[in-house]
Amino acid sequence: MQSRHEPSSPPFLPSSTPRAEFPPGVRPAIRRMAGYVPGEQPQDKRYIKLNSNENPYPPSPHVIASLHEAITDGLQLYPDPLANRLRDTAARVYGFPRENIIVGNGSDDLLTMLMRTFVDPGDRVAFPTPTYSLYDILVAMQEGQVVTVPYPPDFSLPPALAEVGAKLTFLCHPNAPSGILHPLAEVEALARTIQGMLVIDEAYADFANEQALALVHRYPQVVVLRTFSKSFSLAGMRVGLAFAHPDVIAELMKVKDSYNVDRLSIVAATAALEDYAWMRQNVAKIRATRTRLKAALRGFGYLVYESQTNFVLAREPGVRQEGLYDGLKAHGFLVRYFSAPDLADCLRITVGTDEQIDQLLAALHELRRSA
Ligand SMILES: Cc1ncc(COP(=O)(O)O)c(C=O)c1O
Repeated sequence: MQSRHEPSSPPFLPSSTPRAEFPPGVRPAIRRMAGYVPGEQPQDKRYIKLNSNENPYPPSPHVIASLHEAITDGLQLYPDPLANRLRDTAARVYGFPRENIIVGNGSDDLLTMLMRTFVDPGDRVAFPTPTYSLYDILVAMQEGQVVTVPYPPDFSLPPALAEVGAKLTFLCHPNAPSGILHPLAEVEALARTIQGMLVIDEAYADFANEQALALVHRYPQVVVLRTFSKSFSLAGMRVGLAFAHPDVIAELMKVKDSYNVDRLSIVAATAALEDYAWMRQNVAKIRATRTRLKAALRGFGYLVYESQTNFVLAREPGVRQEGLYDGLKAHGFLVRYFSAPDLADCLRITVGTDEQIDQLLAALHELRRSA
């Protein structure tokens, strides 16, 4: 309990100091920003977590064994700043020379590097919306100018995106939060016609029927991002890869934090690639559960988009889903609700195990019946 003598605000901040001026010297762009709000990450096991598109299955036993070995081997030493062991393994698995690959502390880190490299104050950065909301925030940090091109109601690729003439264009492929995959031919047409750099964020590509990674071989202005957080079950380790022309990678190398990926993360991601079959097996299970989840949600009357990811966006046109989100939380399920007007009638649900999804559907059924 607070004692009577404790100041109500920290002693170093006189209560008369206007908040807007403290701390002094903050860049106006940062002062204006609200900052990214990640999904809820409760650190206990109270909830069945279907809100951040994590994998419900654990990483490969080979990853666990490799981590056990690595934990007694040199944690007192800095990691390889270039993560070359991981780059070489990725080079083998994905069919690129090492020089085409850079490793990030999650793909979020790679997004930051791209912004630092390409975006000066006032530069235009384009993306279709709604999409991954971090893009917006990172552009604001660089004082770039966001140009959004709204998706049409069916979430198909808006042709106007190619006409913006932005320095940097982001395409989340398949998109979040819709889950929709644009046909590869359309993405390639965009790569062919775009003026600046095209960053294709393939965080969910392993769950999709088509991938755009091969475009990096043909279009020097294309960057493809991958993450170990979703299909490889390593959200807790924070590793991502960017694939691009060696000259692009060389520029990104200049702006990355020196030791941006730690020793254990390098070991875990390398081992995950060495057991690629484990990832494919989990992806197959998630795709099967996704089909069941979509059918069940449609049975409840939801409009469910054709997800090619490990989550599903369900819309009840014109009906706010906040109450259902709260109800599910009270039943022990965390899903994602977005208050933005164009998404307030939607719930985004990560595809969990069959058992988790059965339990979720039972709770949703009960909540909808009693609503
Ligand atoms: C579209 C998209 N890109 C990037 C990320 C970030 O992934 P990472 O965990 O690799 O930083 C996410 C995470 O949810 C995402 O949805």
